[in-house]
Amino acid sequence: MSRGRLVVGNWKMNPATVADATALARTVGAMAHPGTEMGVAPAAIALTAVADALRGSDVSVYAQDVHWEVAGAYTGQLSVSMLRGRAAGSIVGHSEVRRDQGDDDARVARKLGRVLGAGLRAILCVGETEAQFAAEETAAVLKQQIDRDLSDVRGITADRFVVAYEPIWAIGTGRPATGAHASAAARTIRTALRVHGVPADAIRVLYGGSVSAASVAEFAGAAGIDGALVGGASLKSDEFAAIIKAFGG
Ligand code: 13P
Repeated sequence: MSRGRLVVGNWKMNPATVADATALARTVGAMAHPGTEMGVAPAAIALTAVADALRGSDVSVYAQDVHWEVAGAYTGQLSVSMLRGRAAGSIVGHSEVRRDQGDDDARVARKLGRVLGAGLRAILCVGETEAQFAAEETAAVLKQQIDRDLSDVRGITADRFVVAYEPIWAIGTGRPATGAHASAAARTIRTALRVHGVPADAIRVLYGGSVSAASVAEFAGAAGIDGALVGGASLKSDEFAAIIKAFGG
């Protein structure tokens, strides 16, 4: 099964200003990326400016998070309707949102249902902690996350659903997983997806966690890995360009 490659930059709470985010978006929009689909996920406040800067380019914009309700008294949150005309979809279940906003799998499931129900694309993040990795519980953790996160959704299609395998211990540490570990995780994820009737062989699985120009070859060559969700290195245009090139190769 041939799946297209996808590289998305998750800018997290960076860069410092909307003007900086707009400038970075322009640089990314001008990058050559034969054979690789590209995306960026700016902070909420920069979504409109980045979407405007990338209009007409083939770089997709994603929100970093979205609320499960359609509207109401949810201070600080974004609804799916607010993404219209700005974003192709949203990251859902990133470990930093799970950590800082208290999202559990039940909330992630509701968010995933909301994003897909709105006709948007979801990039669902799953991954184990350092302690779970050390205890060799990665497969069990991934299976449980997929089972719980998909409990609310039906009719998932490959064009609107992507899974990012992001081992928490590899995020921002400069200590990426090995390609073999990422491949094993991708196999586990697809097996778990199949149980939910998802066309798993067509679903893209990205790797995220300290992907850089130096480490990307490990993942570009890993079986079952179709791209990357890139944090820190996506803020440096040379690094990001090298990562995109590696996956396009
Ligand atoms: P880093 O690439 O900075 O490790 O972050 C990965 C990540 O969390 C992307 O969502």
